[in-house]
Amino acid sequence: MKFFLDTANIEEIRKGVSLGLVDGVTTNPSLLAKEGRSLEEVAREILDLVDGPVSLEVVSTQSDEIISEARQLAKIHKNVMVKIPMISEGLKALHVVAQEGISVNVTLIFSATQALLAAKNGAAIVSPFVGRLDDIGTDSMDLISDILTIYDNYEFPTEVLVASVRHPVHILETARMGAHIATMPLKVMEQLLKHPLTDIGLEKFLADWEKQKQLVSS
Ligand code: E4P
Repeated sequence: MKFFLDTANIEEIRKGVSLGLVDGVTTNPSLLAKEGRSLEEVAREILDLVDGPVSLEVVSTQSDEIISEARQLAKIHKNVMVKIPMISEGLKALHVVAQEGISVNVTLIFSATQALLAAKNGAAIVSPFVGRLDDIGTDSMDLISDILTIYDNYEFPTEVLVASVRHPVHILETARMGAHIATMPLKVMEQLLKHPLTDIGLEKFLADWEKQKQLVSS
């Protein structure tokens, strides 16, 4: 499973990269707005830090404007993946830019039929938002399983990127299913490595070692 960080914050990306766990980054207009800097400036810093796909999202909602925005974003760097929302104008634009060789991450996916359409029109990645579905009392894990089955049935090369991740169980369950990628906040990445028994065990090992060192030296 590839791990992406879901943030536009450079410090968080530095921390994730130092763990050796970051295969890519996803941003969205809300995450970029929190940083209060231009998309280009932030994007260049991320692209310098991470050797993998970096998703940058269009903000237009008409297909011709989405197309020109997608072309502009794709020109920034070879690792840019253009994020296009799952709306009819987005699907039209996807059909055009995918044929030009632009890698597209179709975002705001909430149903398996939306994921099917995105794959048909050439999406490289789809982003189903699991946390937001859980928030409204829907079983988001069924959605991931359905999308993987459909893609498998028709041998679509489109990858499933689990988005809107809130906790480690989202990662565990979707990894069991074989989802290709998960994008997560740094906090979730850090939670994945933590276990209280690891900390207690290490503390005991080190204390025992100290004790025997004192015995040997006395
Ligand atoms: C995905 O690429 C989105 O940026 C993100 O995962 C949305 O997450 P949220 O529901 O926590 O805002």
